Amino acid sequence: MTARGLLFVFILVFFASCSNKTFINQEGNEQKIHQLISQMTLDEKIGQVQQVTDGFFGNEEETKQAIRDGKVGSFLNITGPERIAELQRVALEESKHGIPLLFGRDVIHGYRTIFPIPLGMASSWEPDLLEKAMRVSAVEASSMGINWTFAPMMDVTWDPRWGRIAESCGEDPYLASQMAVAMVKGFQGDLNDPTSVAACAKHFVGYGMSEAGRDYNTTYIPETLLRNVHLRPFEAAKNAGVLTFMSAFNDLNGVPTSGNEFTLKHILRDEWKYNGMVVSDWGSIGEMINHGFAANRKDAAEIAVKAGVDMEMATTCYTDNLKSLLEEGRISEELINEHVANILRVKMEMGLFEKPYNQMVSTDTILSASHLELSRETARKSMVLLKNTNKTLPLSKNIRSLALIGPLADAARDQLGTWIFDGNEDDSTTPKQAIGSILGTRMNYVAGLEYSRDKSTKGFEKAVSAAKKSDAILFFAGEEAILSGEANARGIIDLPGIQTELITELKKTGKPLILVVMAGRPLAIGAEMEMADAVLYAWHPGTMAGPAVCDLLFGDFSPSGKLPVTFVKGAGQIPFYYYRKNTGRPATSEDVVSIDDIPRNSKQLSLGFKSMHIDYGITPLLPFGYGLGYTEFSYDNLALSSSEISQDETLTVSARIKNTGNYTAGEIVQFYIRDKVGSITRPIKELKGFQKIELNPGDTKTVSFELKASDLQFFNGRDYLVEPGDFDVWIGPNSEEGLKGAFVLK
Ligand code: GLC
Repeated sequence: MTARGLLFVFILVFFASCSNKTFINQEGNEQKIHQLISQMTLDEKIGQVQQVTDGFFGNEEETKQAIRDGKVGSFLNITGPERIAELQRVALEESKHGIPLLFGRDVIHGYRTIFPIPLGMASSWEPDLLEKAMRVSAVEASSMGINWTFAPMMDVTWDPRWGRIAESCGEDPYLASQMAVAMVKGFQGDLNDPTSVAACAKHFVGYGMSEAGRDYNTTYIPETLLRNVHLRPFEAAKNAGVLTFMSAFNDLNGVPTSGNEFTLKHILRDEWKYNGMVVSDWGSIGEMINHGFAANRKDAAEIAVKAGVDMEMATTCYTDNLKSLLEEGRISEELINEHVANILRVKMEMGLFEKPYNQMVSTDTILSASHLELSRETARKSMVLLKNTNKTLPLSKNIRSLALIGPLADAARDQLGTWIFDGNEDDSTTPKQAIGSILGTRMNYVAGLEYSRDKSTKGFEKAVSAAKKSDAILFFAGEEAILSGEANARGIIDLPGIQTELITELKKTGKPLILVVMAGRPLAIGAEMEMADAVLYAWHPGTMAGPAVCDLLFGDFSPSGKLPVTFVKGAGQIPFYYYRKNTGRPATSEDVVSIDDIPRNSKQLSLGFKSMHIDYGITPLLPFGYGLGYTEFSYDNLALSSSEISQDETLTVSARIKNTGNYTAGEIVQFYIRDKVGSITRPIKELKGFQKIELNPGDTKTVSFELKASDLQFFNGRDYLVEPGDFDVWIGPNSEEGLKGAFVLK
């Protein structure tokens, strides 16, 4: 073995041994990896770092020949289990080194059984549920040959204009971290199980801060915010053993994330000791030319390969340039070997060399009754009751007649939401179908509007007529799926079209008016909420939207979801997030002002000299963590195990919750802290724990949270540290209410 080879072995073995085992490092893998690499030609190594789309090499025989020649390490968006198995067979049996292929696909919130969009699933605040949902997604996807999903997305975002908020778990890093870990575990399961699918922590990092919510836009994120918020879900996923990361499209503080040594090398590899693999996002390497960060594709390839992108998705900057970069001495073969090693390590961790083909577990798992039931449960728990005046809900199944109106009442495709590759609207059960099966002819259905952006009033008269002859009105409002998701940023986040006008007309009938909103983002629905007697926010709930919404509307279950993101009064309030800073002139909810309050010819300079909008005040439409049920819960008996703790002690904070109503319901109990004084300004609140409990009427439960000094750690621009001082704590039903206590950290 050459000296260089020995050095490479040492590097590999050392790196693997000192890594904190971000995932199981099966014994002997590093030796195998090195041995394999030492036998590969440069072309074969460059083949491994290339992921291509279906058809890239031409017809099927040309594709197979490319695999035999070692020209590809992964495919994306190839479908058909038999076809995938055959291509995998060619890779293992007919190529020189028998290196298996990764078959990637966006299985974001379901494969064929579609679950609510991730923002909806996050509203359940039930990580275990998301783990089960993604396990089902992996079972279905792997049965069709997929062994790599480009999920979960764990970008934190404050901006409902950004279409991809639909794919996120909202604004809070702690909640997003819990959900990210759950989804990684769900997808990957037991790595040696044939149903295991490699997960992908994306988009690394900061994409959710795209300026103005315009997709792919610039992001400015100071290192304090980057580390205290945006990196946290990714580090949690890394610690949970996520096998892959995906770099992003955005330019982070002037450096595109697909060419960013600070994030890809300094943080991911040096600080976190990550030894999985990084794939670029579609074309993001070449896009560094558009960013003005690379002069040409060769430069872009050099920047990305040096920064730490292991595999290139879909485009071929690497394939076209790595050899010449090597010949020109601009990169070393050791660098290419490192990237190949990361890719081979993932394939070995997944046992792909041993379990040659995804054992096509019987595809009768697809859309199985148990899968659909889990989708229904997840959808039911993701919906958030925002208003319920005079207990308008639940409705009785014996209601004499119910007007069902609105563009989302029978929208089989739209209820599935964004990022539906293999979901099929024919599998959907819509609210109209589900309600019809309960009420039969007692349901008076009139769409009123054909789709969410419809601007024709031709359906209004029939809709109003149906409302007048019914005991209550159920209006399904919202946005079509195409208005949310990637590249679908909206500057206006109101209900599209003339839905509000139709709701206004229906309101005039004087009948109880219930709104169910299906959307991929928090919409600014203040006016509509005013008019409605009850509002249920359903997000895009997936295949089983109909049965799930009926479970709640007719009271078989109480709503239990809570908002993972703030609802703003209007786009002018964006960005608005609950863990904001206090500022030097904090406003409070009492500082409610309206520009109509300003006296004419006022001599006043200002209404408040406080940090707020004089027309919105400082309160959102609805706060993070908000959600109602069909019962009420009281909180009392806040107790702290001590009024002060040292840095090596644990504080226990508890409260007693009682179901004071007459409905069995779930309650998501939330635990927040505030660091009163810090070496940088600190948020007015930070979520540090949550527990979902279910109580029967009259029952009580004491809920406890443990807080260690390390839970108070933050990055102050220079170091991660825990600073002694005064802290407030809350236990409550949302980010604005709760029992307040205090302690001192010595
Ligand atoms: C897209 C998305 C990314 C997705 C990839 C493959 O542009 O940004 O999230 O996984 O391409 O479809």
